[in-house]
Amino acid sequence: MRTLSERTERTFTFGVTALFVAAILLLLLLPSCKHEPPFGPDLGDQGGSGGPGPQPEPEPEDTCDPNTVYFEQQILPLLISNCAVPGCHDHGTDDNDGIQIVSYGSLMQSGIVQNGDLWDAINDNDPDDRMPQPPQNPLTPEQIALIGQWIEQGAQNNSCVSGCDTTNVTYSGTIVPLVQNRCLGCHSGGSPQGGLNFGSWAVLNTVAMDGRLAGAIQHQSPYTSMPPSGPMLPQCRIDQVLAWIQDGAPNN
Ligand code: HEC
Repeated sequence: MRTLSERTERTFTFGVTALFVAAILLLLLLPSCKHEPPFGPDLGDQGGSGGPGPQPEPEPEDTCDPNTVYFEQQILPLLISNCAVPGCHDHGTDDNDGIQIVSYGSLMQSGIVQNGDLWDAINDNDPDDRMPQPPQNPLTPEQIALIGQWIEQGAQNNSCVSGCDTTNVTYSGTIVPLVQNRCLGCHSGGSPQGGLNFGSWAVLNTVAMDGRLAGAIQHQSPYTSMPPSGPMLPQCRIDQVLAWIQDGAPNN
């Protein structure tokens, strides 16, 4: 038989427990309500800010697998500079057995990859048979190994996009995003560092054409190294800027 005090105590305990549970539920619910964005993430923020911020610098895409040898990037340039020299395999005539080595098509048509003649010729120790023939130097062991690896991998007509594209460099697509991210913090506004406001193409063109831009980003004396602190720009960025300068630093 329960006493009155026992019942009171149980009721009291139940009440406290219920309150406690309710409080926890409330605590759990409150922040989750607050964090729930009414119309998807960040929509309100973007609408309110004035003007577009700095564009993200496009990161170069790299499709080259370091374990693969690529015909277009590694083998063809090697063959052209060593075999397709004038008077040798730059054309297919009788005096070179009709073997022309200027493209994947002409190389495979000659059959010398498939029948092993190419491999034998570059490895031949006899100067009379060795390719390239004297007075040209033989291929280096590294070059021979590269060709061997390419043949082992199936002698494909393959190519890849290397991480650094210096062929399609433009002022708007390459230079502006780079400068916005790395230089404008100091080189903009009413009193820009060094008196150089790179918000304007003309100013950048001026330092590009007088050598200061190339000198500064490559940390060459007597120029002041740019950026002045922290690491140098990545080599790819430097190469792209140099390619743009080479083009005459156009406003394209
Ligand atoms: C932290 C500030 C800062 C940043 C970031 C910066 N610069 Fe500079 N820059 C300076 C200062 C300061 C000078 C003037 C240095 C001097 O007169 O010796 C200068 C001068 C230069 C000059 C002239 C150099 C010379 O020797 O005459 C060039 C070109 C230049 N900056 C390019 C750049 C480029 C390109 C970037 C971005 C990749 C950059 N700067 C980033 C502060 C900066």
